[in-house]
Amino acid sequence: MRTDTDNKLKKRELSHGLATEAGLPVYPSTGLRVAVLGGGFVGLVAAAGFAQFGHTVALVEKDPDKSKELRAGRIRIHERGLPELFGANLRRHRLGVFSELAEAIKGAHAIFLAVGTPSLPSGEADLSAVFEVVETLGPLLTPKQILVLKSTVPVGTALQVRNRLSKNGAAKKQVAVVSNPEFLREGTAVMDFFRPQRIVIGGDQPEAIETIAQLYRVGMMDACPIVVTNNETAEMIKYASNLFLATKVAFVNELANLCDAAGLNVTEVTRGMGLDSRISPEFLNPGPGFGGSCLPKDLDAILNLARKQGVRLSIAEAVKEANARQPRLVVGKLEKLVGTLKGKTIGVLGLTFKAHTNDLRSSPALAVMKRLEEKGALLQAYDPVAEGEARALWPELKLAPNPEEVAEKADALVVLTEWPEFMALNWEEIGQKMKSKNIVDARNLLVPEILARLGFNYLGMGQKPGEA
Ligand code: UDX
Repeated sequence: MRTDTDNKLKKRELSHGLATEAGLPVYPSTGLRVAVLGGGFVGLVAAAGFAQFGHTVALVEKDPDKSKELRAGRIRIHERGLPELFGANLRRHRLGVFSELAEAIKGAHAIFLAVGTPSLPSGEADLSAVFEVVETLGPLLTPKQILVLKSTVPVGTALQVRNRLSKNGAAKKQVAVVSNPEFLREGTAVMDFFRPQRIVIGGDQPEAIETIAQLYRVGMMDACPIVVTNNETAEMIKYASNLFLATKVAFVNELANLCDAAGLNVTEVTRGMGLDSRISPEFLNPGPGFGGSCLPKDLDAILNLARKQGVRLSIAEAVKEANARQPRLVVGKLEKLVGTLKGKTIGVLGLTFKAHTNDLRSSPALAVMKRLEEKGALLQAYDPVAEGEARALWPELKLAPNPEEVAEKADALVVLTEWPEFMALNWEEIGQKMKSKNIVDARNLLVPEILARLGFNYLGMGQKPGEA
């Protein structure tokens, strides 16, 4: 006969294994309360993820319109799995959306700061949003609460936050300031939250650090290394990681340029390289340059930090210069195919900084298009998910509802993001719509031989021109 305990355990197992609408296990409630401040990309994923782990989460989005939309489960950001995850936890009342801070942080064990830290013209990170929230939080914090800096902040910010809080008597309340940088990638952020490769926690109060570690441990689907260090080191781990990733992208872009000149295939070269675990096959895909809301901004921030410390980061400087050249190089390939760009119609496939996102921030595709326009080209563009964002950012840009219309009477096409749907296009039909069958594949997404057989003049990045 099954005892009451057995039934409880059975229920727990069931709830662990129970798939929800989002296809993720439902964890039993942990009784821990978390506040997440900032309804941007990171805040939304962290709030929904922590709620899925079983914590009770209060998300604060100060913009009343955004807050209202979020309360209705409407998410402006295109992020696979996020609407389902967010909605499931709203419906389960594990997740609430607030406009006011005071209400949201009541009884919270941990308060995650996930507000934006964009670049200032100097390249320095703009911390005004962080300090504004810290000033408001100061008098509201209660003893033993933990303030967690999840926003990407320069080395030394946690110390500044601690000093500002102590002016508000937070020291007496023994408020801890913990650094917990995120490593989420746009397009795979939900998966990255549930399957991180590491969790980094910086601070000097072991109890607070253990509480934050516990918030993650309960939900980790796999055992995940938790790196515990001090605040400054945690802050530097984030910047150094993104600088390395940016360096790797700039490296493979330059390698592709060399392979172009030497008549080699960069994909074969990187295949041979990537089998060395010290190199790894990841992040060795040439493109129009790295963009997004992180790599360019964090590169500028670490260069700024180095300048302040009187240290020369010549490699980082070179990465920045190489990345700025990459869009121009893509335009050069188009000129190679169509001659002068003046008056030519160029079809653009993909506007965002990479596929699976609607984020146009620092998108190299926009840099390519601006240069094409400067040279007198006539643009017609398509993006699978960022049409609204593109219309808002560039009202006069001619946007097509599908890739086929982008090809209409085009002198050339250029592929700027690696959307799988571009691989699956009917390239024979596409070619028949074009004035001339020229294509620059800035993501090495397509198969040169197939395009050549269809009569295209194909140029990739470090790819031998397609032979029919
Ligand atoms: C990055 C970091 O990966 C992530 O850990 C951090 O938390 C935030 O910044 P994200 O900006 O979302 O994530 O994009 P990522 O996938 O890193 O790509 C950045 C840029 O590099 C994109 O423009 C992408 O197209 C480009 N890239 C990336 C390449 O051109 N080639 C590659 O092989 C990889």
